[in-house]
This record gives sequence, C-alpha cells and structure tokens, in this order.
Amino acid sequence: AEIDNCSKDHEFHEFLKTLEQQISWDGVRFVKYQGFWCALYLFRQILSAQKHFKAKDSHIILASLPKSGTTWLKSLTFSIVNRNIYPNHEESPLFTCHTPHLFPNLEFDLYWEQENPNLQNIQNFSTHVPFHSLPKSIIESECRIIYISRNPLDMFISYRHFSLENKFVKDATPFELDEAFDMFCRGIHIMGPFWDHVLGFWNAHLENPRKVLFLKYEDLKEDVTFNVKKIAEFLGCPFSPEEEEQGVVEEITKLCSFENLKKLEVNKNGHVYGIVKKSSYFRKGEVGDWINYLTPAMAERMDKLIETKFKDSGLVF
Ligand code: A3P
Repeated sequence: AEIDNCSKDHEFHEFLKTLEQQISWDGVRFVKYQGFWCALYLFRQILSAQKHFKAKDSHIILASLPKSGTTWLKSLTFSIVNRNIYPNHEESPLFTCHTPHLFPNLEFDLYWEQENPNLQNIQNFSTHVPFHSLPKSIIESECRIIYISRNPLDMFISYRHFSLENKFVKDATPFELDEAFDMFCRGIHIMGPFWDHVLGFWNAHLENPRKVLFLKYEDLKEDVTFNVKKIAEFLGCPFSPEEEEQGVVEEITKLCSFENLKKLEVNKNGHVYGIVKKSSYFRKGEVGDWINYLTPAMAERMDKLIETKFKDSGLVF
C-alpha cells in the first residue's frame, strides 16, 4: 500500500486505518508498513523521505537497526572523510557536536518538522529504514551505503536500556524482560523483524559490494583499525602510506573510542528530541553484555531463530 500525499491529514488517517498495528513492550505504537514495524511517531517522516528525498552520488548514507553501533560508525566515518579539513583533532566537530548529529537521521531529524525540507547543504545522512523501503533515489543514485549490524541479543539489551532510561511513552508500564524478548523474537520491535532488516542490506551488499558496505559491531570491536581502512577504501579515500606512517588511522580510532566519546562534555549533558538523554547513546560499549540479563533458554531460542532465518545467507553472527 502506498500513500500519495502524506501531508493531507485525512488521507493519512485513512491510510493508517488500513495498516496492522501493535503496541510494543515499552508502549510505543507500531504500524506494519511495507513489511516492517514502523514506530507510529516516525511514520509520516518515513513517508515524506520516501517521497521527497533526492540522493546525490556524493552522499553517504549510514544505515542500521537502532542500537547496532550507529553512533560509533558515525564518528568514524565523519573523521575519515573530513580528516583533511580537521587535521588537528582538537578542532574536530566531535568536540562540539553530539556525535549522532554528525550524520543527521532522515526520519528522526531531517523530515521531523517539514515534509520537504531543504537538505542542500547536507552530505551525510543516516537512517534506520529497511533497504527495500529506502527512498528510491538512494538505490538509484551512486551514493554509498554503509550498514552496521550487531548481535541481536546485544542489540535487544542495548535498546531495552535505551528505552527504559528515556521513557518514550511517559505513562506506559513496560513489559517484563521475558515478554519483551518474546516480542523481539517474533519480529515485533522498532524497524523489525531484525532478520529482514539485516538480510535486506546483506543481500544488497552481495549484489553490489561497491554500493553497500556491510559491517559488524563485533568486527569493529575486534579490529577497528582494519575496519577504518576498509571504510576509507570503500568511500574512495584510502589512507596513503604516509598517513599510515604518521598514525592517522590510530588517531581516528582513539578519537572515536567509546571511552573518549563518552567523556566528552557535549555527549554527557542535556537531551535530544526533548526527552532522550545525550548520554544514553554511550552505555557500556561491550560485546556479549546480554549474558548479564538473558537466560540460557532465551539465548538458545535466539540461536535457533538465527539458524532458521540466516541459514542460506552466508552471514554468521
Ligand atoms: P550498549 O548499550 O551495549 O552499550 P547506536 O549508536 O546504534 O544507538 O548503538 C548504541 C550502542 O553502541 C550502545 O551499546 C553504545 O554504548 C555503543 N557505542 C556508542 N559509541 C560507541 C563507541 N564509540 N564504541 C563502541 N560502542 C559504542
């Protein structure tokens, strides 16, 4: 189902009535749109972006499911592509700008207030929308997409903390962990099901690796230097031997490390979107934290789910 003009209230509400809806464990209302669970508060913006966003060949799009390591990827990519503008790291906008803001998000930031904003001066974008629902111009232009994925158990735990800390729905009584996990495993979570989201970008990467770079949070954790070089190559700005000798790659990885970003004043205090603590984008930054919250039976359920959903994909978690 499509809607032609999402600015028209009546049509919008009529369209909404045709869609399946669910309330998430944290009280957020979802609508099922083009096969994914879209938070209702993002729906208009997603429709607007689909309708109006014009990607240019020079644009960089960072895509992910929420809590997959987007902020880290934003800081790294920003530092890689702007390394000649801010050779002195102390002058990096990372010190003055809340990190997520370096790559404004289509549905959360840019299309929030206006249906068709002027994005002329923006080069870097991010989105949580699944591949098949991206604005067409992103697919059709030569712009590059970098996707970051993460172990679903860690992503689930990270999102649970994020949502509970920021209370997206003020009066909601959140479901217990086991019920929330059950919903997650049934694909009912923001932008879910996660398997469709991940596989959408994975298959796009297999089809056209020059267009879509596919990264994993865990791989970045294991060897961030290698991945920084990979991102630079993908974006057509590889590090020269001189730069490598001078330690430019290491400087970027240090600047963007969890410890560093978390302690920056600009990431510590205040809120975004009125209710979301800036600090909540930097919680623990570890691999495998799920073990402190989920039971072995839950992990086993996830293993089986992953096996079923990803078995022919060539993708391993
Ligand atoms: P945890 O909640 O497990 O700590 P996103 O940026 O997509 O919202 O993902 C947030 C997750 O990435 C959080 O995970 C957060 O702590 C972690 N994170 C943020 N910055 C990071 C960094 N520089 N290095 C590693 N992890 C980071």
